[in-house]
Amino acid sequence: MEKKEMLYEGKAKKVYATDNPEVLLVDYKDDATAFNGLKKGTIAGKGAINNRVTNYMMQMLEKEGVPTHFVKELSERETLVKKVSIVPLEVIIRNISAGSFAKRYGVEEGIVFAEPTIEFSYKNDDLGDPLINEYHALALGVATKEEIETIKNMAFKVNEVMKSFFKNLNVDLVDFKLEFGKVADGSIVLADEISPDTCRFWDSTTHEKLDKDRFRRDLGNVEDAYAEMMKRILGE
Ligand code: TMP
Repeated sequence: MEKKEMLYEGKAKKVYATDNPEVLLVDYKDDATAFNGLKKGTIAGKGAINNRVTNYMMQMLEKEGVPTHFVKELSERETLVKKVSIVPLEVIIRNISAGSFAKRYGVEEGIVFAEPTIEFSYKNDDLGDPLINEYHALALGVATKEEIETIKNMAFKVNEVMKSFFKNLNVDLVDFKLEFGKVADGSIVLADEISPDTCRFWDSTTHEKLDKDRFRRDLGNVEDAYAEMMKRILGE
């Protein structure tokens, strides 16, 4: 498969066309941003780790019956994915209070919820990805009722699979962000990435943070945390 022109450069990835119009090539960068791009930095080796971790998770989820955009890992940092039209919603599942949830509601981090929660942000950098409810998403035409229902069911299924997978690695899956896309026939698939950039991972014993919060909050040992998660997930 031939790598052709760059179509898009995001904060953490570049996307290229290929000679197959239905397939794109994703190239993961070491660049890291937080707070809608206000904080910028580099996490050495992050691109390679996020590529491999995402592909591992996507293949595991496919086996569990969740359709994804994954096609093929090409190299350390490059992966072929199905071309999708991204539904402009960030879908956030939470099992334990942290981050913006703790801040918004004035509660401490670490409260284990009886049931997982779901929320949506409208993917729009100019607006700072504002929180959005299902009615507003419908009103804006970002998805249909059926699509939102499918996305919710898939997101909770992903949570069940991932929660038990990470529990076996002595990691608590605190929360994570998913994105979904529509393929040519209109069906919804899981897209984007699943990595320490997009999940909160706490060691179950020490509660040590093993994710991008180490970068966001200047906690140090950022690279070590990413490497530790890759080691636990891929066993290397
Ligand atoms: P939050 O607590 O800041 O709302 O983040 C919830 C989860 O979503 C957390 O695991 C980090 C992830 N996330 C992203 O992947 N991208 C983002 O832009 C933001 C704000 C959060």
